[in-house]
Amino acid sequence: MAKSSKPTTTRKSTTRKAPASRASAAATADGIMGLSPRSWISGGRSAKGNEARSGSRAFILALDSRDPKPTRALVSAHLNKWQMELLLKSESEVSFFHGSQGAVVVLRFVTPDRDVDDAADSSLAKSPYARGRDVAASVFGHLFPMKADKWILEIDGIDHEQRRGLCVGLELASYTYAENRANPRRTRKKLPTLLLRSSSADISSLDFKSCGQIALCTNIARHLVNLPAADLNPRTYAELVESMFSESSSVKVETWSGDRLRTERMDLLRAVGDAAEDGPRFVHIRYRPKNARAGQQPIAFVGKGITFDTGGLDIKPSSAMRLMKKDMGGSAACVGIAKWAELSQLDLPLDIYLSLAENAIGGSAFRPGDIITARNGLTVEIHNTDAEGRLVLADALDVAVNQTGADQPACVIDLATLTGAIKVGLGADIAGLFSNHDRLADALLDAGAYKGDLAWRMPLYQPYKSMLRSNFADFANATDGFAGAITAALFLQLFTGKIAWAHLDIYSWKDSSGGAYSECGGNGQPVQMLAEFLTRISESADGLALKARP
Ligand code: BES
Ligand code: MN
Ligand code: ZN
Repeated sequence: MAKSSKPTTTRKSTTRKAPASRASAAATADGIMGLSPRSWISGGRSAKGNEARSGSRAFILALDSRDPKPTRALVSAHLNKWQMELLLKSESEVSFFHGSQGAVVVLRFVTPDRDVDDAADSSLAKSPYARGRDVAASVFGHLFPMKADKWILEIDGIDHEQRRGLCVGLELASYTYAENRANPRRTRKKLPTLLLRSSSADISSLDFKSCGQIALCTNIARHLVNLPAADLNPRTYAELVESMFSESSSVKVETWSGDRLRTERMDLLRAVGDAAEDGPRFVHIRYRPKNARAGQQPIAFVGKGITFDTGGLDIKPSSAMRLMKKDMGGSAACVGIAKWAELSQLDLPLDIYLSLAENAIGGSAFRPGDIITARNGLTVEIHNTDAEGRLVLADALDVAVNQTGADQPACVIDLATLTGAIKVGLGADIAGLFSNHDRLADALLDAGAYKGDLAWRMPLYQPYKSMLRSNFADFANATDGFAGAITAALFLQLFTGKIAWAHLDIYSWKDSSGGAYSECGGNGQPVQMLAEFLTRISESADGLALKARP
């Protein structure tokens, strides 16, 4: 990382010794704090010999809605005449039957989808991948209680991306927090073996392994969000990330805390994290694949990792504080992406930075009116201690954009549960995307639409920067005025220099079960979008030509 040449500041050191009784991250013995680091669907394979024709089985079948004839024969082998009649009359995407050979789910995606027809803006229309994925909780919920040892997939009747979405979705649907967290009263459910039976040649393109990798890494991000703040604090979080990659040959993890944060002048991060029992941490996950293509500059990610947001002295009301363990969702997605890059042996170098702090209340808490010097030298007056995310990101962005030589990033993308305002504007499903670079923005929007992990571009409308004026410092950290998501993004932009930059203001949470989710909680946003984005860069001739802006 870049070494500081400027003088250090005087904020006190936050190095504290942790008592042995407090929570610790036993990442290796306990998986990823209770989550198994292995994917279920990765074990799926083509059925051999007679194995799809014997034993206790359940079936996932698909009827081709465009040309049902060939697949109708396949489905009717399981159903009697009246079941078949019901199926053909039904308009639902998932139909459940007790078939002659075991429980049967039949999928049928009528084209065009009604949602697509009705979408006022087709760029948010449901993609084939998303359609396949979003029936998964229903499929899983129907079939799992039948306790079959094998699930036989006969899904020639839906297209390639629908099949991939279904497979990823099944793993997402299999996840429940409680059984994954060390809890003596709950044992992990035994999942069936997935066996693919196919008559068509191209079904080999259904790659269980790559679907499993992306699903596992989405579940990692979900699980991190679901962990309560008493278990996942800046210290245990940093330890967990270190242990997740301790055996890796392509990933190195470095953590800054205490004095190192002081000498690096990360005073905004320190101000936010200082009142908590476990002080702030800055984690750098450096991914350098052996197969990296020549001359490729790293893609950098920066994640907001507030392990709990009380609001600080500007304390949140209880309803607004209730879910604030999820305020590290941006960093959780970063960890998911790091793991995915390692598992999939992505051929692009990545630098992933996590700014970890707990926004707590105490005698050493930062206050409204405090003036703090950012790592890049700008002074910031604290208008509201609840606008803490932009503070921890500011110092992290400064580290990211100031890497030099071969480490200079091609672009920097930050992920953050930054504002309540974006949730009001776009809701839980759609992330707010801000960017100074059209090509980068379009690449993220397209990748998100393709994977049903949506974003919508928001304006970096410069005149609103005047709302961040301060009499006492270069800028205030917040305003009470309108456009809360935009002013937050404009604040971040003060720290991004000229590098191609994108900011995703995310919600990180699913408020109810449905789609691919069997339960509410962390949603893994936007891991699927970013994996697709990186895959496309890796496969493109020019690496999307993400050059720094002139
Ligand atoms: N973590 C919150 C934003 C948030 C709230 C995300 C609810 C998702 C759901 C953030 O730190 C915050 O408190 N932002 C304030 C900023 C304000 C004080 C300028 C907000 O959005 O109200
Ligand atoms: Mn806050
Ligand atoms: Zn916050």
